[in-house]
Amino acid sequence: MNLRNKIAVVTGASSGLGREFARHLAGHGSSVYGLARRLNRLKSLEAEIGSAFMPVECDVTDEVSVQDAFSGLDQVDILINNAGLGRFAPVDAQTKEDWTIQMDTNLTGVYLCTRAVVPIMKMQNQQTGFGGHIIHIASVAGLVGNANLSAYNATKFGLRGFSEATMKELRSDGIKVSCICPGSVATEFGRIAGSPGAPNPMQPEDIASTVIHVLQSPDNYLISEVVMRPLRPRG
Ligand SMILES: NC(=O)c1ccc[n+]([C@@H]2O[C@H](COP(=O)([O-])OP(=O)(O)OC[C@H]3O[C@@H](n4cnc5c(N)ncnc54)[C@H](OP(=O)(O)O)[C@@H]3O)[C@@H](O)[C@H]2O)c1
Repeated sequence: MNLRNKIAVVTGASSGLGREFARHLAGHGSSVYGLARRLNRLKSLEAEIGSAFMPVECDVTDEVSVQDAFSGLDQVDILINNAGLGRFAPVDAQTKEDWTIQMDTNLTGVYLCTRAVVPIMKMQNQQTGFGGHIIHIASVAGLVGNANLSAYNATKFGLRGFSEATMKELRSDGIKVSCICPGSVATEFGRIAGSPGAPNPMQPEDIASTVIHVLQSPDNYLISEVVMRPLRPRG
């Protein structure tokens, strides 16, 4: 896809990877709707990027909030389901609240945003012969289980399943679905998860440049899953 004059929605655009996806997409000529709960953070990104970035206050776990966020959009070429979090704990110390917020954000939020864009993308396919591209940000934690990550692992394994199922379901509608599985990246994720992550992580711009590459692939070329890791995670 040529990214010039495309409309993108990036969830979790207030921080880390989502911020970087928004910067890269705008830099390639797309207009970006950035969704997150912290509107002040989104507005500071708007001040940096300019009119190509539209801040949208949205809680992806809330069905009405997601419906409101997508209600004015009749074109969406790209959706990056990036909003997510971990709250790491031993399974017998994991609270129901921490379990639920990870499920609601990392799985239900992805489902709600995907459900909102698919009818728009199907319409685009009927009009132009190409529907659009949905990118899910999963994790290496969707490929291998880790002690104290049981809830987070369950969401990211689940997201890979959701991605593969929707990839097979939507390809006949001209909609690409790709799943991105990074290892440790230097963002605010570790502070919220309660774990510092690898001492020598990847940088958000490295993941963003790979996502741009995946989006720019020719229409009949689908990169369905990508795994990336720091070469020397311990430095
Ligand atoms: N960093 C890593 O090592 C790593 C590795 C593999 C995968 N990932 C995945 O990458 C994605 C982005 O994480 P990050 O590393 O960039 O962490 P981050 O810096 O903490 O960013 C997380 C983003 O998700 C948003 N978010 C959380 N809950 C939300 C909700 N209910 N509604 C809307 N937005 C919500 C946050 O915005 P608000 O708080 O403003 O709502 C924030 O913008 C996540 O899915 C994470 O699982 C991260």
